[in-house]
Amino acid sequence: MRIIEVESYEKLSALAADIIAGQVLLKPDCVLGLATGSSPLGTYANLVKRYEGGLLDFSRVRTVNLDEYCGLKGNDPQSYRYFMDKNLFDRVNVDKESTHLPDGSAPDMEAECSRYEALVESLGWPDLQLLGIGHNGHIGFNEPEDVFHAAVHTVKLTESTIKANSRLFDKPEDVPTSAITMGVGAIMKAKRVLLIAGADKAEIVERAFQGPVTPRVPASVLQLHKDATVILSKA
Ligand code: GLP
Repeated sequence: MRIIEVESYEKLSALAADIIAGQVLLKPDCVLGLATGSSPLGTYANLVKRYEGGLLDFSRVRTVNLDEYCGLKGNDPQSYRYFMDKNLFDRVNVDKESTHLPDGSAPDMEAECSRYEALVESLGWPDLQLLGIGHNGHIGFNEPEDVFHAAVHTVKLTESTIKANSRLFDKPEDVPTSAITMGVGAIMKAKRVLLIAGADKAEIVERAFQGPVTPRVPASVLQLHKDATVILSKA
């Protein structure tokens, strides 16, 4: 596992975009595993800039996102589908049909978990999986638990995650209390993993990557990944 410390969020975003752009240039029809949250916003803005400058072509790229809130339709401004459309997919030339997220509004969530797991497998596991990290060590929405969940599953969000994510909602009671997420299986099967974290995550990054591997700190499993890079910003 490589841990790279950079001076600023701008540098983190530029470096993460370099790595993703390199992946797309190397394999134009790659599968990118993508993430939401505020951490990747700068990375996506950098990728858009490169596309606008004619330096990147997303026309053959396929994407799979990690997670989605339960109960939100894709056109809900709080949904992760909406976030991805607004910050990346609608701003580059990716084929929207090739962009995938779990459907948080599916009537049968168990069936949706199986559908999404099979879909990710059929695309081929991500060539590169981008990740953020929650303050409690969650990746995607794999919350601290007694066991690691390999497959796509639904999860009841912890109080701390609901609180952290409430900053993006008008009212705390609007934050969904459950979500559907890729399990650590798909994340570990990604050929490369790239986790980005701001200075506010320094403590959990240390626990996750310098402490024991435990499902109580889900990101710690990445210590066992053969090609994982963490970019940590000092500011
Ligand atoms: C959410 C997402 C995670 C993300 C985390 C951290 O809970 N499900 O994928 O990594 O938030 O987000 P932020 O980057 O905004 O701190």
